Amino acid sequence: MEKNDIGITRENALKLLKQYIKNENTIRHCLATEVVMRELASKFEEDVDAWGIAGLLHDLDLEVINNDLKVHGIKTEKILNDLGINPIITRSIRMHNEEASKEKRTDRFHIALAAGETITGLIVATTLVYPDKKIKSVKSKSIVKRMKEKAFAASVNREIIRECEKIDIPLNEFAKLSLDAMCTIDNEIGL
Ligand SMILES: [Fe+2]
Repeated sequence: MEKNDIGITRENALKLLKQYIKNENTIRHCLATEVVMRELASKFEEDVDAWGIAGLLHDLDLEVINNDLKVHGIKTEKILNDLGINPIITRSIRMHNEEASKEKRTDRFHIALAAGETITGLIVATTLVYPDKKIKSVKSKSIVKRMKEKAFAASVNREIIRECEKIDIPLNEFAKLSLDAMCTIDNEIGL
């Protein structure tokens, strides 16, 4: 995919996100997912900007659908297709929620988005139990440890995070890559 095929600039994508999402924590989650996706794209020598836009916009519909997971992703796909965003990106967004897409993820892009957006939740939760609540204090080992504690951040789906192994990134490495990526925007995400 060529860069100019994305169909939206990063600046306009952020504006669009802020039009649709009023909850500051959701916006921070989207920024975190964006930076993780950019790092993953870079690792795989994929299109960094396209993967970043997918991360930034993946939860665009949450407020217009009132968090109804049965349609989450499908609605964003439609909104973005109508705006002329590359369907490779909008399909990836649809596929990050299997409950709505009714299809199993197999594509590396789709798996990266699902696992990447999910691990950001575990990283935020892990940060918030550190004494200083600063992401730069967090060790990636702590994140891996929290993976096994089912009661901790129970809403974070560990199986989806573990999909990183399907794209040949061991969990330790995935946790470190995601944590390091989020550390680069610690102020923007309030951590
Ligand atoms: Fe998300």
